[in-house]
Amino acid sequence: MSRVTGRLLSRHSRVMTPPIRRCMASKASTSYAAITHPEDNASLSEAYLSKIASHSAYLTNTYARPPLILSHGKGSWVYDAIGRKYLDFSAGIAVNALGHGDEEVAQLAGEQAGRMIHTSNVWYNEWAGELAKLLVETTVQHGGLGFAAGGKEKRGEGGAKVFFSNSGTEANEGAMKFARKYGKERWAAEMTNGVGAARKWEDSTKTRVIHFTNAFHGRTMGSLSATANPKYQLPFTPLIPGFDLVKYNDVDGFRATINEDTCAVIVEPIQGEGGVFEGSIEFFKTLRKECDRVGAVLIFDEIQCGLFRTGNMWAHSSFPLDCQPDIITMAKPLANGFPIGAILVRDYIAQSITPGSHGTTFGGSVFATRLAHHVLTRLSSPTLTGHIRSIGSHLDSRLSKLPSYFPDMVKEPARGRGLIRGIPFVDHSVPAKLIDEARRRGVLLLTAGKDAVRLVPSLNVERAEVDFAMDVIESVLGTMQSKN
Ligand SMILES: Cc1ncc(COP(=O)(O)O)c(C=O)c1O
Repeated sequence: MSRVTGRLLSRHSRVMTPPIRRCMASKASTSYAAITHPEDNASLSEAYLSKIASHSAYLTNTYARPPLILSHGKGSWVYDAIGRKYLDFSAGIAVNALGHGDEEVAQLAGEQAGRMIHTSNVWYNEWAGELAKLLVETTVQHGGLGFAAGGKEKRGEGGAKVFFSNSGTEANEGAMKFARKYGKERWAAEMTNGVGAARKWEDSTKTRVIHFTNAFHGRTMGSLSATANPKYQLPFTPLIPGFDLVKYNDVDGFRATINEDTCAVIVEPIQGEGGVFEGSIEFFKTLRKECDRVGAVLIFDEIQCGLFRTGNMWAHSSFPLDCQPDIITMAKPLANGFPIGAILVRDYIAQSITPGSHGTTFGGSVFATRLAHHVLTRLSSPTLTGHIRSIGSHLDSRLSKLPSYFPDMVKEPARGRGLIRGIPFVDHSVPAKLIDEARRRGVLLLTAGKDAVRLVPSLNVERAEVDFAMDVIESVLGTMQSKN
């Protein structure tokens, strides 16, 4: 908080004012000086602007990008070609868990690239199976997917298996395919009184998928059909038939919708893109109970909230066993930015997946899985998980003050937990304005849903960096409040 903003704020007697900080970071050995990055044409060189113009002439216009060409990074900081420096509180959209320019990741990538990058899935490679084993064992150790932490208690028979994809949307596509095949086989067995005589696949009506408001599951046709956002869906209709929409957290609405034809329920334990909303334990208990009643597969999409972002391995690791899924999908941070996704599926469903059921050329490459094995080993180390929990509670203590500092703008406490947080604003035009101004002051943020600014920093972000980001946020909000 700058002195000027602090003075401006103190004129508003009914609000608590953020403490005036001498420098941008409040405490700690490292502190950061204020940053100013003007973005007007006069401040940016002609060469820089013409590079942006030439890139946008050849790239599809799928993103409204600011005038910023990032070139390299170190830890939580990224830089552009003309030396402008930004604190990256977006982490490549919850991807760069270990930050940018990590030396161990870089060394391993170089070594593995020189040895072998890709073989296809026609053969085994040295790392895909190792990573699958690590994912299953770490899940058993930390709890999740129907295993209590430590693995003593579990829901359902057998262990789990992994299918590797290249992205989050592909992981969800695969998970929904697995659920359909398992559902159709179950249906066929039931229709023949358990004798299991072959039935035609196309006869089965056990094909419907339940999804929820504000969810984001991806852009390919199946995942898009489970992403009920008119902006994303309407230009691409007709979507895949058989998807039923229920309000997130609406227990009665869910009970009224699920039936014997439901083969899958796909849900985020913490919704990311949709606005950082958390489901209640009662909601997840109902999903589990009703899925068991009708024989549907419960899929938790932990692509954004999983892999230690909350401080636990999975956002649902701490849920009781009667709220646990049959399948988890993951992607984003698994290889710290190199593309990889995965479906973690319990054995009782994986037995339906046989040669030819599903496949991929690139998924599970020796390169991606070796990097991911390294990343997962580091993310699950007690030192890093301890750090994530303590930095998460420091972030929480800073966020919890915003409603009292800016009561007309921030009505509720920030949503989410750990290092996936959403600051909700009364005026829905504030998130975009805050993001633009924070960038000019050296901090990169994201929006979430209609009303929120999302904070998803790298998981090794430091305390002084959290303070810098929060100081900038407070200072921008202070300026905006004083103008009203
Ligand atoms: C919860 C969730 N599911 C799926 C996806 C899609 O992942 P990808 O962009 O890797 O296809 C995302 C991406 O933001 C996500 O947040």
